[in-house]
Amino acid sequence: MSNANFDLCMVDAPPADAEDRSPLRALSGPESIEVAPTVQALTPYEAVSSQAAIEAQPDHHNSFKLDWNESTIDPSPRVNEAIAAYLSGGRGLNWYPRLGSAELIEALVDYTGVSHDHLLATNGSDDALHLICATYLDRDDEVVIPVPTYNHFMVFAQSRGARVVTTRGQTAFDPNVEGIEAIMTEKTRLLYLVSPNNPTGVVYGPDVVERLCRAYPQTLIVLDEAYFEFSQISGIELVEKFPNLLVTRTFSKSFGLAGLRVGYLAAAPQLVQGLRRIYNPKSVNTLGQVGAVAALKDLGYLNAFLEEVNASKEILRRFFAEREVEANITPANFVVIRRPDIQKTLGQLEERDVYVRDRSSYPGLEGCLRMTVGTTSQTRRLLERIGDIF
Ligand SMILES: Cc1ncc(COP(=O)(O)O)c(C=O)c1O
Repeated sequence: MSNANFDLCMVDAPPADAEDRSPLRALSGPESIEVAPTVQALTPYEAVSSQAAIEAQPDHHNSFKLDWNESTIDPSPRVNEAIAAYLSGGRGLNWYPRLGSAELIEALVDYTGVSHDHLLATNGSDDALHLICATYLDRDDEVVIPVPTYNHFMVFAQSRGARVVTTRGQTAFDPNVEGIEAIMTEKTRLLYLVSPNNPTGVVYGPDVVERLCRAYPQTLIVLDEAYFEFSQISGIELVEKFPNLLVTRTFSKSFGLAGLRVGYLAAAPQLVQGLRRIYNPKSVNTLGQVGAVAALKDLGYLNAFLEEVNASKEILRRFFAEREVEANITPANFVVIRRPDIQKTLGQLEERDVYVRDRSSYPGLEGCLRMTVGTTSQTRRLLERIGDIF
């Protein structure tokens, strides 16, 4: 810095006690601001991703990223076209997104078959789950969750000070409906079900969901259908019948839009009105809205991918059966494989540039890994690469 500049920056000499009076002191002083006690008490969600390791590879297209149940292919080309057309059409990004994702909601009415007053678009389905907890849970409310399941929901519930009660079946792959019913009481405020469940693939069909909605009318039943498209089994129609059911879904999995962050929920209008009290109508970003609408206009592309995943699951079923490897081929886009020496298997997979999710610390899933399923050509290439491990 030249002296001239230095002169310009000069200010009067600070008074002797300036340090004490400085507003900066409040920010950097020895007393740090603690997080709220409810948040201090919870166990944060552990988001372990292989993305950085893969991106560090010289040829990252050669890696298999099979750890987060994302789509293994690009979204429909219509998504990129629509985003490019939006950006080149004179409508930039300086305006906030379309409030309430109006066009996306119209497209979702056609896709889901439920009317627009039952729908709310969110910033990924995690945002929907968080919003549900923020709106409908309070301190000491009881939340029932069959485990093992998608743990992120527990964090959202516990951040409200809710009390999470879990139940485990005979095996991790048991729907455990009796176990759920055994711990539900009229005090249960919320029941969280994932169907197909991550990581076990357990499905709660509409018959079971309907029975629970009837039996516990005072309980909010949250049905997380992040993997619905793969199973084609849904309880979404029941939201028109039951005022205590809320279904969440996402564009992150089968539609291949995880990076755009778009999800939605469906529920009785009264429940949706409740959520609107704190819902952020600009929570779905502009490109996310444009991309999701475009994806819904190309269901042929979605269906072709779903067929590929199903065919891949057959290839994997045969592969593991021939080798007598314990494999659960789930109705979602992932399989769960149990190994006697799981850490060794995980190491061998990584050496071959294949990244899966270690689920061996989950109760009932000792020795298990979860692996995303892609297209048949990807699956054949994968098995050529990892065949010698099994
Ligand atoms: C069961 C389940 N629900 C919700 C999510 C969150 O999805 P997103 O926020 O990308 O919609 C995931 C992601 O893995 C999931 O497995």
